[in-house]
Amino acid sequence: MISQTVSELLSQNTITLPEVDIKGWVRTFRANRFIALNDGSTINNIQCVVDFENFDEALLKRVTTGAAVHIKGHLVESQGKGQKVEIQVSELEVLGDSDPETYPIQPKKHSFEFLREHAHLRTRTSTFSAVMRLRSSLSFAIHKYFNDNGFYNMHTPIITGSDAEGAGEMFKVTSLDAKKTPLNDEGNVDYTQDFFGKETNLTVSGQLEAETYAMSLGKVYTFGPTFRAENSNTSRHLAEFWMIEPEVAFMDLAGNMDLAEDFLKSVITYILEHNLEDLNFLDKRLQDEEKTKPQAERSDMTLIEKLNFVTENNFKRVSYTEAIDILRNSKPNKKKKFKYIIDEWGTDLQSEHERFLVEKHFKCPVILFDYPANIKAFYMRLNDDGKTVRAMDILFPGIGEIVGGAQREERLDVLKQKMAAINIPEEELWWYLDLRKFGTAVHSGFGLGFERLVMFATGMGNIRDVIPYPRTPQNAEF
Ligand code: 4AD
Ligand code: MG
Repeated sequence: MISQTVSELLSQNTITLPEVDIKGWVRTFRANRFIALNDGSTINNIQCVVDFENFDEALLKRVTTGAAVHIKGHLVESQGKGQKVEIQVSELEVLGDSDPETYPIQPKKHSFEFLREHAHLRTRTSTFSAVMRLRSSLSFAIHKYFNDNGFYNMHTPIITGSDAEGAGEMFKVTSLDAKKTPLNDEGNVDYTQDFFGKETNLTVSGQLEAETYAMSLGKVYTFGPTFRAENSNTSRHLAEFWMIEPEVAFMDLAGNMDLAEDFLKSVITYILEHNLEDLNFLDKRLQDEEKTKPQAERSDMTLIEKLNFVTENNFKRVSYTEAIDILRNSKPNKKKKFKYIIDEWGTDLQSEHERFLVEKHFKCPVILFDYPANIKAFYMRLNDDGKTVRAMDILFPGIGEIVGGAQREERLDVLKQKMAAINIPEEELWWYLDLRKFGTAVHSGFGLGFERLVMFATGMGNIRDVIPYPRTPQNAEF
């Protein structure tokens, strides 16, 4: 018989089954009688009842937390409380022992910091298995959304020779020997001798390449790893994270906002429909965590309420200029409670300002648009006012910026001027400029930080806890 999963056994309609066959890991073994078994297929354990008189004592001793076991038996209506069905065990085999003295994932509450140090085993816990099932489900929902809406999936390169964001915070890719780096006549590293014959990096964004495909295939998206060497040790930054970047020909900024809003609502609806058990578990976890906070800092919505709120309400669309007015006249600004006081038009918004707008002022997701040109990337479409660009950022409660996007500058002359102003050589992006020479058109796209979405969807407060193996400054374990 093929092994069944815990999820299948718990969700099937008949209460009794004469023969079941299941493999999983022991969560607990109580009173030498009750095994709580989990195989990762669901947040719920299945209770397996062992009649100890029928089994060797030495065998039962090996049924410890963390051990892998193979169980055959009958599924029956449960005698005890807490579960509908249970397995009466007829055959028990320990597939892999687990030393109870040294197994790190004891059946008790562990701190997330401790579990990060044991990230290879942390999905043996209910919280992390729920988070990672949701991550998988969200990834599927994202591909489904784009597939259902006529987008092509494109794999943009991970090693690139260009800096899409112009921020210069990139990881170098080289095969040169660090001890014998060849230098050129000017005393700089001679990259012509490197693997690719030029300086290369890990990509910070697939956008520029995605634009090339949008300008032929129409609607495309890329969903891949991106890398940033910025030294931001915060709960919302990773050095390696996954980004979803759709890019659409003939779409303007308003269309871009519509797409982003519809997309986010759709993927959140998907998990509400398909992952409710995991969400309910995480909701309860979050409520317990909230109780430990001072009253003023507690959220007035549960996790499920927050998710429903996003799917049911329109995102508030506000221009940068309006936002600056609101912030300038806000209480925390006047009382100098902000770390960065908003004084003049043109300053970049910090996360404290974004969170004020979303959490205190509008109390809903906000799309900020038409930012000052000089705080945004070179490729954004310049407005007729000559000082703002058609950028948009989406801000979510508890997260801050979750999406950054723009209508792209489609005019060759303007784009060249903007590149020249920040010293991007035309030779480096000749192919990007070609798009503006041959059949240029209005086009737009955005980037969604996948881990920030997973944080929002799971209520987890630290980005390190929503990616299997986080890469952050001074940390690349596993
Ligand atoms: O705003 P960003 O830098 O935009 C771009 O890279 C554009 N090229 C996207 C596009 O238009 N196609 O990054 C997009 C999103 C941010 O809104 C944020 O959610 C996430 O990526 N992000 C990070 N997530 C985790 N760790 C980091 N260090 C991140 N930096 C950006
Ligand atoms: Mg951004």
